[in-house]
Amino acid sequence: MHKRTLLQTAAALALLGASGLAMAQDNVFKIGLILPMTGQQATTGRQIEAAARLWMAQNGDTVAGKKVQLILKDDTSVPDVTRRLAQELVVNEKVNVLAGFGITPSALAVAPIATQSKTPLVVMAAATSSITEASPYVVRTSFTLPQAAVAMADWAPRNGIKNVVTLVTDYGPGLDAERFFKSRFEFNGGKVPEALRVPLRNPDFAPFLQKVRDLKPDALFVFVPSGAGAAVMKQFGERGMDKAGIRLIGTGDVTDDDQLNDMGDVALGVVTSHHYSAYHQSAANKKFVAEFQKANKGMRPNFMAVGGYDGMRVIYEALKKTGGKGGGDALLAAMKGQIFESPRGPVFIDAQTRDVVHNIYLRKVEKKDGQLHNVEFDVIKDVKDPGKTK
Ligand code: PHB
Repeated sequence: MHKRTLLQTAAALALLGASGLAMAQDNVFKIGLILPMTGQQATTGRQIEAAARLWMAQNGDTVAGKKVQLILKDDTSVPDVTRRLAQELVVNEKVNVLAGFGITPSALAVAPIATQSKTPLVVMAAATSSITEASPYVVRTSFTLPQAAVAMADWAPRNGIKNVVTLVTDYGPGLDAERFFKSRFEFNGGKVPEALRVPLRNPDFAPFLQKVRDLKPDALFVFVPSGAGAAVMKQFGERGMDKAGIRLIGTGDVTDDDQLNDMGDVALGVVTSHHYSAYHQSAANKKFVAEFQKANKGMRPNFMAVGGYDGMRVIYEALKKTGGKGGGDALLAAMKGQIFESPRGPVFIDAQTRDVVHNIYLRKVEKKDGQLHNVEFDVIKDVKDPGKTK
């Protein structure tokens, strides 16, 4: 008798445990955040993680009655690793959203998993135009290289720059930057005598810069991914390119706020086009920068941080709107068409393309209060990705 009761109790407890667990699972909303936390792109991971945690600290971790759980994984920016981690997060952890993706090949590697599992994939960093077309579940909060490159190709010829050599990292975003800069610049009457490409892994800029020095264009247009800008700037200065009268222009990746303040005087006067500067003069940005720096030992947020912060907002708003019901398709629908004020300025997630629409600013590196900043001096409003064919 005694034995039977015990057994019954155990069975009842097991049942209770199982349903309790199911309830707990039901009340958890999981975000699988895959970032390069080590390796060549580690600054991107560090910035986005900090921004995501700041968002949660500011907005709480309970949304629509669900406990939001951030599951951070380091893919070391190796696409095969990204794919394996995404698979594990979907199958074992049953994440509601996949997010992060420091480089284009990582985002592309995961796109089929998002499609098969109907899991929204929020791209917070990668910026090749075509990523949003790789899966109908991709939503982007970073930017696209064509958005930034076209703005520079319009600005340069109006400012005495007629002859430009391009230097880009040889993969998706670099090829987008090169193509969109070159075609628009030539359309505007400019000339591009050489288009140079450097490898993504362990790049050595020296031989390319020597070549540029010999060609002596009005300017060198650069795209390198976040984290590589300081090396380009240093070698540009060491070779005396600025003294030889060659200007440096590019998308804002090269004057990345994560590194800019340590680049030294060679960076002064460099003009770039981009969607975010930590020096953006709005109340929303000042608050964001102050709180980000307070939470991260003074680290200045860069454009990657803003992609992560806005990505968290898009996820939170979608969860709020759906009340956590309806799965991946409902969440995705609620992500489309969102409009909000970001630290970068106004942002719109185009419902048709699932891509970000935002302002592109022209900025010049200047010293402000003893620090180097990308100081915005002009704006092109509500720029859609020019790379979209549809
Ligand atoms: C990308 O791989 O898509 C990428 C990475 C870093 C950037 C821009 C684009 O700064």
